[in-house]
Amino acid sequence: MKEKISIGILGLGTVGSGVVKVLKNHDEVEIKKIAVKDITKKRNIDGLNKSMLTDNPQTIVEDTDIQVVIEVIGGINPAFDLIKTAIKNKKHIVTANKELVAKHGAELFELAKKNNVTILYEAAVAGGIPIIMPLKLSLGANNISKIAGILNGTTNYILTKMDTEGREFEDVLKEAQDLGYAEADPSGDVKGFDAAYKIAILSSIAFDKKVDVNNVYIGGIDNITSTDISFAKEFGYKIKLVAIGQMANDNKIDVRVHPMLVPKTHLLYGVDDVVNAVMVEGDAVGKVMFSGPGAGDLPTASSVVGDLLCIVGDLLLDNTPIPLMRCKQRNGAKHLEIDNTRNKYFIRVNAKNVPGVLGDLGTICGNNNINLYNIVQKGVLEDGSARVVLLTEAALEKDLNKAIEEMNKKESINKVQNIIRVMD
Ligand code: HSE
Repeated sequence: MKEKISIGILGLGTVGSGVVKVLKNHDEVEIKKIAVKDITKKRNIDGLNKSMLTDNPQTIVEDTDIQVVIEVIGGINPAFDLIKTAIKNKKHIVTANKELVAKHGAELFELAKKNNVTILYEAAVAGGIPIIMPLKLSLGANNISKIAGILNGTTNYILTKMDTEGREFEDVLKEAQDLGYAEADPSGDVKGFDAAYKIAILSSIAFDKKVDVNNVYIGGIDNITSTDISFAKEFGYKIKLVAIGQMANDNKIDVRVHPMLVPKTHLLYGVDDVVNAVMVEGDAVGKVMFSGPGAGDLPTASSVVGDLLCIVGDLLLDNTPIPLMRCKQRNGAKHLEIDNTRNKYFIRVNAKNVPGVLGDLGTICGNNNINLYNIVQKGVLEDGSARVVLLTEAALEKDLNKAIEEMNKKESINKVQNIIRVMD
């Protein structure tokens, strides 16, 4: 029996540093090489030996001693090519790269199958929260009907601050950037792409169909205002960026990311700040929720090293890592187009302060099969216009779009200012 497994790490940023720190406590793993951009950069990482560093990642993916490669560079290039070379050289892969798994997972899993190696990627979704293995293994007995999650910590932090402090999006985003929570280019987070990669990955596993991330409907939080949040609060909701994957009719799946009003009664309502959470509904288990840190060096390293130790444990016994852990992505999913989804809506309108305007709104909704649940006018603004908020019952998105078009053309209505979907 072997005593140690040699590994290589591609990348030594936040997650890579966390992995080195956590691996200090695991004698069965020897870090042989770590690929970095700048070998001369000063680094103060507990457990790091400078002789491990190389600025040539190719030497890792081609090293015959190395049995497992950890990829924590992120992005498509050069991670994709490096992983492919590593697989062809019969190395098992652990990656935290959500974009790569979402966009090229199928190709990588196929290549891994051919080469009889495993790719594990627990850290790619929701950082430190174990969700991939539970979905693949522990919940394997269930037909999963729905996954709903808060999968992006940056946007959850911004929306929580807007809610608790009554501040505007731009102001909180700037503070989050100054504190290092949000990236200098925040678009991947605030426009919803990061969460879209994650829900595409989870849906592929849960529904056993390859979900193409290009078919995921994506909406960001950059048009949410403190006015929307305070109205939502008054009605008993918080606004959150929610990622959903659910089975629809005709064997189609409905996968999307966009802001939603979350009611007090929902499990996701209390998930605030940078915390992530994933709720899964299965026919046997009912509803289960996983929550915890969705980012950060040590939480993400917890998932990376957990995957690594699964592989290492088997390699030490001279076994191939358990085939069950491998990803089997079957045929591609048929997607339900967003126009054909049914949702409840929050609609904020700026209208003229004239007799009959509430009637106009009600009539337009009625003519488009939209049943109103609540309609509120909050006085008159300084410029003489009226602020009106409508909450609807579930309606077809294409009917809603027609109603909005008619509202925007109506003489008594200045503009529909925001439309946000509402969770049940
Ligand atoms: N940027 C992500 C977030 C973490 O804010 O949750 C990594 O996916």
